[in-house]
Amino acid sequence: MTLQAPKGTRDLSGAEVASFWALEKAARSVFELYQFEELRTPIFESAELFSRSLGETSDVVEKEMFTFTDRGERTFSLRPEGTAGVVRHFIENNLASKGGVQRFFYIGPMFRAERPQAGRYRQFYQIGSEYFGAADAAADAETVIMIAQILRAFGISDFTVQVNSIGDSECRPRYRDALLMYLEKRADSLSEESRRRMKTNPMRVLDSKVDGPKLSDAPIILDYLNDDCRRHHELFLQLLRDAGIPLHENPRLVRGLDYYTRSVFEFVSPHLGAQSALAAGGRYDDLVALLGGPKTPAVGFALGMDRLVSARPTGTPHNSMPTKAVVIPFMAEAVPTALRIARSLRAEGVAVAPVSVGKKLKNQLAHAVDSGANWAILIGEDELKTNSASVKNLSNREQSAVAFDDVPAHIKASGGR
Ligand code: HAM
Repeated sequence: MTLQAPKGTRDLSGAEVASFWALEKAARSVFELYQFEELRTPIFESAELFSRSLGETSDVVEKEMFTFTDRGERTFSLRPEGTAGVVRHFIENNLASKGGVQRFFYIGPMFRAERPQAGRYRQFYQIGSEYFGAADAAADAETVIMIAQILRAFGISDFTVQVNSIGDSECRPRYRDALLMYLEKRADSLSEESRRRMKTNPMRVLDSKVDGPKLSDAPIILDYLNDDCRRHHELFLQLLRDAGIPLHENPRLVRGLDYYTRSVFEFVSPHLGAQSALAAGGRYDDLVALLGGPKTPAVGFALGMDRLVSARPTGTPHNSMPTKAVVIPFMAEAVPTALRIARSLRAEGVAVAPVSVGKKLKNQLAHAVDSGANWAILIGEDELKTNSASVKNLSNREQSAVAFDDVPAHIKASGGR
C-alpha cells in the first residue's frame, strides 16, 4: 500500500498553516467590524439540498460532488460550498420570523471532485458570508467592500472586481430567449459542450473558453434588465466607485451556480494564472423560497483561502507574531524551575515550546534559532545555585544573568525582541 494523500488534496504544514491562520484572523476581525456572526454547519448535508440549491445542471452538481449513502440508504454529499448549508440553517430555525436582518460568516473545508491543477483542489478552504433580509444594493456593495477590506488586511491589494447583473426571474427569461435564438443560428460552429449547455443553461455558453471569443456580438443581459434590476445595478456600481473599488464591468460574468439574481461579482488576481478567482458571490433573492422558506432577499460571497495564500506577496510579515522563547534545563534537577519559568513566560504572552531535557545544548540552540525563537533561557547547576537564569538574546547573542522571577519582565523590557 502506498501512503499518499488522496488526489487533489494536500496536507497543510509549516509556513502555509501560518498563512491560513493569519488570513482567518484578518477575516474574523473584519467580520467583527461589520457585525457578522460565525456559523458552523456540518461538512455533509443531504445531496438534494445541494442539487436543488446549486442547480441540477450546474457543473458542481453534475460532476463534482462527493456523494455517498449511509446505512439507512440516505444520500449525502460532502459540501461543495457553504451557502446551501447556511440557507438550510436559516429555514430550519425559522430565522425569518425574527424579522430584520441576519448576517453569518463561516470558515472551513469544501469538497469538489474537480480535475486537480494549480490553485484547484478537491478539498479546499473557503471563508464566506451570507446576509439575509436586505434587498437593497447597499447590502451588495457593503459585501464587496468588506471582501476588499479582508484582502487588504491580509496583504493583498492587487485585485480587480468583475461585476455584472444577471437580472431576476422576470427579466432573465426574456434575455435567455434572445440569447438562445442567437446561439441556435450558430449551433453548427459550437463545441459539443456548448450545444449541450444551450439546452440547460445558455448563459453559460458565453463563459466557454472555446466558444466565448467567437460570440462577441451576442446580446448582453444589461440590455434586457427591467427597471428595478437596472436601478439596483446602477446604485451597486455607484456605491462601489464611491468606495474606490477597482471595478471591471463584465457583461458576460454569469457564475457557475444557479441561485444568483441581480448582482454577481468575482475578485480576480493578476498573479494566479488560470485559476485567478480569489473570491466570488452575489445576490440570491429566490433561494430561501426555492428551498421552502419565506421569500427572503440575500447576498453573500466566498473566498478561496488556498488561492489567497498563494497570491499574497512573499515576505509579507505576520502582523502579530508573538515573541518566542526556548527554556533549556541542562539536567533533570533544573526541570521544575524550567517549567515554572516557561509557565510564567506563557502567562505573559511569550510563546515557549514544551520544555525537555537531555539533548545537546548546541543542537537545542540551533533548533531554537531555526524555529524563529528570539530568546533562550538556560538553567544549569550554576543558575540553580544563584537563583538566576542565563538569558540569551538570540538576535544579538548578548547574555545576562536574570533572577528566575524577573525573566518575563526582562524580556518585556527589551520590547520582546
Ligand atoms: P464559487 O465561485 O464556487 O462560489 O467559489 C468561491 C471561491 O472559492 C472561488 O472564487 C475560489 O477562490 C474558491 N474555489 C472554488 N473552487 C475551488 C477549488 N476547487 N480549489 C480551490 N479554490 C476553489 C461559491 O462557492 C458560493 N457559495 C459563493 C457565495 C456565497 N455566493 C453567495 N454566497
